[in-house]
Amino acid sequence: MEQMDKSIKHKIMVLSGKGGVGKSTVSAGLALTLARRGMSVGIMDIDITGPNIPKMMGLEDAELHVEEGQIFPAIGPEGIKIISMAFLIEDPDKPVIWRGPIKLGAIQQFIGDVAWGSLDALIIDFPPGTSDEPLTVSQNLPGIDGVVIVTTPQEVALLDSRKSINFAKTVSLPVIGVVENMSGYSLSGTAPPGSDLTIDGPGGMSIEVSTDENGKWATVLDLFKSGGGQKAAEDLEVPYLGSIPFDPGIVRGGDDGVHRIVAEPDGVTAESFVQVVDKVMDIVESGNRTAVNIR
Ligand SMILES: Nc1ncnc2c1ncn2[C@@H]1O[C@H](COP(=O)(O)OP(=O)(O)OP(=O)(O)O)[C@@H](O)[C@H]1O
Ligand SMILES: [Mg+2]
Repeated sequence: MEQMDKSIKHKIMVLSGKGGVGKSTVSAGLALTLARRGMSVGIMDIDITGPNIPKMMGLEDAELHVEEGQIFPAIGPEGIKIISMAFLIEDPDKPVIWRGPIKLGAIQQFIGDVAWGSLDALIIDFPPGTSDEPLTVSQNLPGIDGVVIVTTPQEVALLDSRKSINFAKTVSLPVIGVVENMSGYSLSGTAPPGSDLTIDGPGGMSIEVSTDENGKWATVLDLFKSGGGQKAAEDLEVPYLGSIPFDPGIVRGGDDGVHRIVAEPDGVTAESFVQVVDKVMDIVESGNRTAVNIR
């Protein structure tokens, strides 16, 4: 464990108060974006009940390789090293009921026995909420940089994010910041280069776009009132890391195992991840994380 502490530069936990807000999507997106910068990256998928990182990364049939008591991670796109609870589960259609001690043991093995090698960053994806899993990891894995909280544009997300921030405070982990996911609807298309277009959205919404020299245009329609993540961050006095648009390609990618960033590395979604990663890295590299201040 001590060795792991030294050979992994940054360890980032991804949490949310509520399920289905896109933690796994964001975890995979952060990892891919970092890896595309030439960093060596790992993902530790701690979600026992719904481990979907392997599916998103096209590693559904991966098997763990164990040698001399060390577990070797599977290798995903961009050379990302991936270890997932899914690799331990024989029938993915059967619900997994692991009692506390077994779960604890599995998490401790993920922390102590995985041959990560040296990594620039390890992203840790969790089940929703602030249950045993993040607690166990925070108590067993030294040197965690902090927590990235994923939320959606709805106002209620504020309450859910507050829970995650409270959790971070309880276990004395810094909050790196809040990401707003599924924020606005990402649209793109082609038209003759140099065209100015008006895109008609629902409810009388319209957006002006221009094509680039290759005739491509892209924009984001704010279908829901976006800004919930920013407001949550302001109210909770933690950094706002940016937003990831609602992108139907993410849903398809989750099904066919090609993450959006791999399918379209220069698309709007990939670009939004670049901005989030810039902020995350600024914060973790400066060591200037927010001391949690909950009211
Ligand atoms: N930005 C997005 N645009 C479109 N669909 C998205 C986006 N982010 C996530 N999704 C979709 O929403 C669903 C939930 O995403 P994901 O599995 O990442 O959430 P989660 O928070 O990890 O869920 P859980 O709480 O079950 O672990 C998936 O079907 C995913 O494809
Ligand atoms: Mg998930």
